[in-house]
Amino acid sequence: MPAHVIALANQKGGVGKTTTAINLAACLAERKHRVLLIDLDPQANSTSGLGLQPQPGGSIYEVLLGHQSIAGKIQNTRMPGLSVIPSEVDLAGAEIDIARMERYLHRFKEALEPLIHDERYDIILVDCPPSLGILTMNALTAVDSVLIPLQCEYYALEGLSVITRLINQIRESGANPGLQLEGIVLTMFDGRTNLAQQVMNEVMTHFGDKVYRTIIPRNIRISEAPSHGMPVILYDDKSTGAEAYRLLAKEFIKRRKSAGAQATASDPEPSSSHEAVPPSPPAAV
Ligand SMILES: Nc1ncnc2c1ncn2[C@@H]1O[C@H](COP(=O)(O)OP(=O)(O)O)[C@@H](O)[C@H]1O
Ligand SMILES: [Mg+2]
Repeated sequence: MPAHVIALANQKGGVGKTTTAINLAACLAERKHRVLLIDLDPQANSTSGLGLQPQPGGSIYEVLLGHQSIAGKIQNTRMPGLSVIPSEVDLAGAEIDIARMERYLHRFKEALEPLIHDERYDIILVDCPPSLGILTMNALTAVDSVLIPLQCEYYALEGLSVITRLINQIRESGANPGLQLEGIVLTMFDGRTNLAQQVMNEVMTHFGDKVYRTIIPRNIRISEAPSHGMPVILYDDKSTGAEAYRLLAKEFIKRRKSAGAQATASDPEPSSSHEAVPPSPPAAV
């Protein structure tokens, strides 16, 4: 089976894209899936958060320009089953260099092609920068689906409508006709605030079963782990944050299986994860 490729995207910074990319990738690897995380953000937070030093020439930049092969960019992490293509600050130049090239929206898709078909990975996660620039547009043109991390704050829904509209436009324009919304993950959730509760209810009303039932709570261990170069399951195995991301990985796999079944079976079994009822808020951390 070719790898399933998913972008973690939201034009807003600080909403948990990188944290979710690292920790979902690690928890999927823990469940024996073969996972590759591609860091497409020049800030290289996924790279350092997995314990790698950003190195000049180490990113996907030269691959996007068509000068080098993607296989040479893959590095192992200390998490068995999880590989990474790191980023570094030079990748910022790609925004300008790629814009001048032919088929500039398809550079990442073409770069990925060999990895998707060699069956080396089950899942490829792409951590996008906090903008809708050329790198994010390249990711959205290349991936099968988009997972949107969302922080329950004021204006969250407005931001969400921007990215979901863009997904529809990219699909309808023919740039990526198969592009799907994988789901929306509520992050840094603080159930003690009315605002978080309200935003959660509104997102559930608008997006129903696209909203993951697993909610990632605000948790100090999650925020500490990257400075130790580890996903939270390695940094503090028993923490609330580790538990939350393990549950997220479990739900992710369940949803993937049910999406696969719906694609192949004419009469798929209804899945309980498709009820449009608000999940109960997580325990206070
Ligand atoms: N569940 C969480 N609990 C506590 N801190 C978090 C959580 N998720 C993310 N953070 C912190 O919030 C900040 C922004 O998260 P990050 O994943 O880097 O966002 P993005 O990639 O969308 O810019 C980081 O300092 C990160 O450690
Ligand atoms: Mg980030």
